[in-house]
Amino acid sequence: MTQNPQRYTITAALPYTNGPIHIGHLAGVYVPADIYSRFLRMQGHDVAFVCGSDEHGVPITIKAKKEGITPQDVVDKYNGIIKKSFEEFGISFDNYSRTSGKTHHDTASDFFRKMYEDGKFIEETTKQLYDAEAGQFLADRFVTGTCPKCGNEEAYGDQCEKCGTSLNATDLINPKSTITGAVPTLKETRHWFLPLDQYEDWLKEWILKGHKADWKSNVYGQVKSWIDDGLRARAVTRDLDWGIPVPVEGADGKVLYVWFDAPIGYISSTKEWAEREGKDWEPYWKDENTKLIHFIGKDNIVFHCIIFPVMLKAHGDYILPENVPANEFLNLEGNKLSTSKNWAVWLHEYLEDFPEQQDVLRYVLTANAPETKDNDFTWKDFQARNNNELVAIFGNFINRVIVLTNKYYNGVIPQPEAFLEIDEKTIAELKAYPAVIASSIQKYRFREAQGELMNLARLGNKYLADEEPWKVIKEDEARVKTIMYVALQIASALATLSEPFLPFTSAKLKKMLNQQEEISEIPAWDKIETQKTLLPAGHQIGKAELLFSKIEDTAIEKQLEKLQATKAANEMENQKAEPQKDLATFDDFTKMDLRVGKILEAEKMPKTKKLMKLKVDTGIDQRTIVSGIAEHFSAEEIIGKQVTVLVNLAPRALRGVESEGMILMTENAEGKLVFVNPDGENVKAGTIIS
Ligand code: MF3
Ligand code: ZN
Repeated sequence: MTQNPQRYTITAALPYTNGPIHIGHLAGVYVPADIYSRFLRMQGHDVAFVCGSDEHGVPITIKAKKEGITPQDVVDKYNGIIKKSFEEFGISFDNYSRTSGKTHHDTASDFFRKMYEDGKFIEETTKQLYDAEAGQFLADRFVTGTCPKCGNEEAYGDQCEKCGTSLNATDLINPKSTITGAVPTLKETRHWFLPLDQYEDWLKEWILKGHKADWKSNVYGQVKSWIDDGLRARAVTRDLDWGIPVPVEGADGKVLYVWFDAPIGYISSTKEWAEREGKDWEPYWKDENTKLIHFIGKDNIVFHCIIFPVMLKAHGDYILPENVPANEFLNLEGNKLSTSKNWAVWLHEYLEDFPEQQDVLRYVLTANAPETKDNDFTWKDFQARNNNELVAIFGNFINRVIVLTNKYYNGVIPQPEAFLEIDEKTIAELKAYPAVIASSIQKYRFREAQGELMNLARLGNKYLADEEPWKVIKEDEARVKTIMYVALQIASALATLSEPFLPFTSAKLKKMLNQQEEISEIPAWDKIETQKTLLPAGHQIGKAELLFSKIEDTAIEKQLEKLQATKAANEMENQKAEPQKDLATFDDFTKMDLRVGKILEAEKMPKTKKLMKLKVDTGIDQRTIVSGIAEHFSAEEIIGKQVTVLVNLAPRALRGVESEGMILMTENAEGKLVFVNPDGENVKAGTIIS
C-alpha cells in the first residue's frame, strides 16, 4: 500500500472559558476529533490538530459579574482546568491556545482590518436594544426572548439554541435583559455588518451543490433550511468592554463580536504551533490541497457552515472547510446537560472517582455518541459497557493471551505448527479489520468504527474459547503453539487498532506485548493487512497487567446519589412559596397554644401505612398524639426528639386511637417531612411558643 500523505488542519470548537468541561463536550466534539486526528497521524498524514479557550464573549462577563471578579480572573481559572482535563483524557491537540493571547489579538485584528479595507463590511447606525438601568447595549446572551422561528421562550440575542437559528437581538419577541430583567429600549449605535445576503448564491454553489453528498445529513439539512430562508446582514462588532477592540478609527468602546474572533482562534492556534515546531503555518490555511475539518456540536453549525466560511471567503486568502461533522447533543440520565444547573459529569470529578479510567469514559461516550440523534448517558449503561464489554471481552482476551504465553513459553512467542482451517479463517478475518475500521472513521462514524474494534476482540475471545488451549495442552502441545501464535497476532492488531479510541489502553498493551512500532513507509495499521506476521515467533513479550477492572454497584450508586442531590438542590432553588393564606387576627393567633414537647415513645400503628402513635411530654402532661409520619421516620430515630406541638387542638379519634394534639411539620425539597424544631435541645418541655 503506497502512502499518499495529505495535509490536514483539524479544529475542535474552542470551549467557552466560563466553567469546567463535562462529558457532553467530550462526546460531541473532542473525543471524535481526537479519534480522527490520531487515526490520520497513524496513517502518516501531516496533521495540525488545534484548539484553545474561547475567552471573550458575554458568558464570561456574566460569570465574572456573578462572582465579583474580573473576566480575566474567570478565564485564567477555567483555562487551566479545561486544559488539564483535555490532557488527562488524552485529547492529542498539537496546540491549545487562548483567544485572550497576543497572537490571537493580532491575528483577529488583522483579519478584520483587511476585510474593512477591502470594503467587505457595511457600516451602519441602527437602533439596538439598550438596558437603561444597566447603561448597556444588549446583544447575545445579555438578552433573552422568544425565538421568532420556533417559539422557544429562552432564545438568546444571537442564537436560538433550540432550533439553532442565528438571530439578531432585535428579532426577539418580548426581549428581556439578563442583567437587570428590564424590558429594553431602543438606542442608536454604529456597527459593522457582514452582509451574508451577498454570499447567498456563493453558499448555494459551495454547500448545496458541492457538499450534498459528503456532509452529514443533520448538518446539510440545517444549513440548507437557513439558506433557503434567506440570509441577512449580521453585526460583527459590539458595544462592550471585554473583547478585541475594533481596530479602526472611531470605534472606541467597541469590540469584535465573539463569534467573529473565536473561529479565527483556529488560525492563531495553528500559528503558535507552527512557530514552536519551526514550521510554516500558511499551507495549513491557504494551500488548496489542505483538508480543513471542523469538529463541533450542533449549536455551532451556523457559525462554522455559514458565517466563518463567508469571513474566509470575503477575506480571500483562506481555504474553506472540507467538512463539518457536527454532532447532536448528549443528555445525562434523561435530562439536558447544563453547566448552570450543575447537571453534568465533570471531567475533573470523574477522575477523582474513577482514577486512570479515562479510556472507559472515552469508550462509553463513543459507543453512545450522539452522531445522528441526541443520546443519553446513564451510569447503568456505563457500568454495563465496562463490565460486559471492556472487562469481559477485550480485557479477558488479552489477559488470557498474555498469561498463557508466559505460563507455557516464558513469554516467548512459539513457532506455529500446521495451520488448520479455523486458524486460516481467523487470520483472514483479522486482516479485514483495518480497512473496515478505517472506512468507518473516514466517514466520521466513530461509533461504528469502535464497534468493529470490539468485534475483533470478540473474534479473539471466541477463538480461544473454541480452541481451549488450556485443555489441549494436556494432549497436544504442538497444536497449542499454533493457537497461541494466532491469538498473539490478534492481540497485536488490537494494540494498534485501539490507539485512536483507547490511547491509554493501547499504550499499556503495546508495553505488555513489547511491541515497538518503528516509523516506516507502511503504517502499522496497514501492516496488519499486508504483513504475514505482526509479532514473530521468538519475540519476547512482557507480563500481564490489568487493562480494565470491574465497576461495582456501589460506585454507580454513589454517582446516582450525587445527581439526586443536584436535583434536590435545584428543586429547592426553584421552589416557589405558596400564596399567603387569609389574614388571622392577633386573637386568632393567641388562641393557638403552641409548646415545646418531647417525644417519649413512638410506635407504628398496625395495619396503617402512614400513622404513628406517639407519647409526648407536653410539660402539662404526657399524652397520646397520632401523627402521619410513619413513612418518613422510624420510631427509633424520633424518640427523644424535641418538637413543636399544638396542644389545644380539639381531640379526635384516628383509627380508634384518640389523638390529643398535633406535631408541626414541614416538607423539604425532596418531599420528605422534617420537624419544625425548637432551636437546640435544652428548651424545657412545656415552654410556650409565641
Ligand atoms: N465557545 C463556543 C461554544 O462553546 C464555540 C466556539 S468555536 C469557535 O459554543 F469556532 F468559535 F472557535
Ligand atoms: Zn428557535
